[in-house]
This record gives sequence, C-alpha cells and structure tokens, in this order.
Amino acid sequence: MTAAKTNDYGKTQPRPSPVRTTHQGLTQILKLENLSVSFEGGLKPAVRGVSFSLMAGEIVGLVGESGSGKSLTALSLMGLLPSSAVQDGGRIIFKGQDLGALSPDERRRLCGTHLGMVFQEPLTALNPVLSIGEQVAEIYRLRCGKSYKEALAEAIEMLGRVGLPNPAQAAESFPHRFSGGMRQRVVLAMALALSPEILIADEPTTALDPTIAAQILELMSRLAAGDNSSVLFITHNLRLLKGLAQRVMVMYTGLIVEEAPVGEIFDSPAHPYTQGLLRALPPGLDEPAPERLTAIGGAPPVPGQWPAGCPFEPRCGRAFAPCRESVPPITDLGGGRHVRCFLYSSED
Ligand SMILES: Nc1ncnc2c1ncn2[C@@H]1O[C@H](COP(=O)(O)OP(=O)(O)OP(=O)(O)O)[C@@H](O)[C@H]1O
Ligand SMILES: [Mg+2]
Repeated sequence: MTAAKTNDYGKTQPRPSPVRTTHQGLTQILKLENLSVSFEGGLKPAVRGVSFSLMAGEIVGLVGESGSGKSLTALSLMGLLPSSAVQDGGRIIFKGQDLGALSPDERRRLCGTHLGMVFQEPLTALNPVLSIGEQVAEIYRLRCGKSYKEALAEAIEMLGRVGLPNPAQAAESFPHRFSGGMRQRVVLAMALALSPEILIADEPTTALDPTIAAQILELMSRLAAGDNSSVLFITHNLRLLKGLAQRVMVMYTGLIVEEAPVGEIFDSPAHPYTQGLLRALPPGLDEPAPERLTAIGGAPPVPGQWPAGCPFEPRCGRAFAPCRESVPPITDLGGGRHVRCFLYSSED
C-alpha cells in the first residue's frame, strides 16, 4: 500500500506549538539503539528493540499502559535491572561512550555522577537507618566535597524546593515516618542534588496531590531550561506531558509504537493506540468536556506471549490482513514523527 501521511483521528482544535518541535540543532546526550531486555525463563523479551535519543536540555515523555516496559527501559539506562533480567541486545551510548563497554565499577561511577533517577518505588531508594537530611547531605558532600554542615544546609534548601513543608524538621526524620508522596519528593531531592545531566523520573508525581505535582513539574522544567539537563519523564498520564515535554514516545508491549513532538501527539496522533489513549483521556481544566470518553477495548496481550503480528491488532478498529502477520516496521513520517503501524508503511 502507499504511504499515508495523514490520519483521520477526530477533529481537534489547533494548539500552540511547543517551544521546540524538533530536536534538530540540539546536542545529543544519550542514544539507545535496539535495546532488548528479557527475563530468565521468559519466552519473549519484555523490552523489544527500543531506540531513541535524548538531546541536552529537552524533556521527553515516555507513556504507556502498565507493564509496557517503561521502568525496565529506565532501569537499563541506569544499569540497575533486577537480577532476573538481562539486557540481551542493543547499545546505550552516553555522550559517545558505549556503556556496555565499561566495567560494572566504571558504569556505576558514570551513572552515579551524570544520571539521576527518581524511582517509581521511592522506599527502595532510601536507607531506613539514616535520617532524610543525612541522605541528601551525603550527596552534596561527595559531589562537591562540602563539609557536613554546609552539605546539610544545601540538603535542607533542596528539601524545601521539592515542596516538603518544614524542611529543617523533615531533615531530622527517618523515611518510615514519611508518606509515599513525601518520600517521592525526598528521592527527587536526592536526584536533583546531583545536578544530573540526565534525570530519569519514573512516575514522579503519581503519589502527589495536584499542587505539589505542579511544583515538581515546574522544577523539572527549570532543571531542563536552566541547567540544560535532559529529562526522561515516565508516566501513565499523557496529559501531564502536554505543558512539560517537547517530545513524546508511546510504548506498548515493549515496543515504541509512536514518537512525535508533543503538539502532534495531541493534535494528530498517528498510531491507533495513541488515538485510543487520547479518546480515553479526561479533559484538562481549561478544556471543554468531550461528549464521552471511550476506553480502549480489550486488554494488552499477556507479557511474553506477544502475538506474531502487531500487538495492538486484537484491540485495533483499523486492523487489516498484514497486521496479523508480522510486527509492523517503524515508518518515518517526517518532522520527527515515527510510527510503528502498517497503515503508514509503504510497499517496497
Ligand atoms: N522483576 C521482574 N520479574 C519478572 N517480570 C518482571 C519484573 N519486573 C518487570 N517485569 C515484567 O516486565 C514487563 C515490563 O515491566 P515494567 O515494570 O517495565 O512496566 P511499566 O511499563 O513500568 O509498568 P507500570 O506502568 O505498571 O510501572 C511487565 O510485564 C512486568 O510484569
Ligand atoms: Mg513502571
């Protein structure tokens, strides 16, 4: 079939373009090439040939349903996969350096200095026997060679910046006394204390109330704009990415199925799965309510039992014969848009 460059998803109002709609002209800081992650005894990889790049100073969103492989992708970047998982394909290149060629110690040092991560499960990242202040101060002490007193003062300031009320008192507390949302802010403070070149934030606002979540998003934007750091922002909630990210990648069953500048994702999504996500998205406060929200029918395939064809085919209203035969290739639609769907692929 011939390449189709347009799609017929709804009639949306044009929205203002994001500040940067392409990543041309920016410096590439990280590149993933064909990353694959499998579990021991798993029949098929959980992350399947994921490729993308991050440019300095940009915020990129990674969105997708539960179990689609977002956290595993992030943990691979940090070299922190669970022991039962293995990166069995692909390369991760940070500033031209292939991380797979480093020894575990070298990699830990490099990732510990230049990459920061806000974990989806913040409790696992905190030491239960050290006070919050000690844990954040330790990062300033090691990174900047500051005295404990100076480091603690910086730690308290950072705890305030991530929205913890009464940060001096919070610094004296231990993790078990904090709520999930408070712990998440502590983990964010620890990641920001590193002034990382890349911040990977895995669902950093899920446990937060909307006011604090807005503050955290603002902090991320400032980090990217002020320090020229890159942020990989992982979320279930496509809406959060609207005012935050420049680009969005949509993940489904271990595959990136669409990547596009954020404006295009909202105004003219190409992949039927992205279209479904948008139809199911409740409107923002400043938007008119749609006549109705439509959930995507069916459920994703069982992990590791991906069908031979497009994994979205059983749920897709536009599927046709090729979709049942093989996984669609990635089609470049131009303007930084890529989609993995036979509706857009050309016959060779
Ligand atoms: N330690 C583990 N052992 C076995 N399977 C795992 C493990 N961790 C993740 N998986 C599987 O790998 C797949 C991808 O998991 P991942 O945590 O990356 O999903 P996710 O997109 O982050 O989901 P969520 O939105 O729920 O956080 C899932 O099918 C999950 O069940
Ligand atoms: Mg996850």
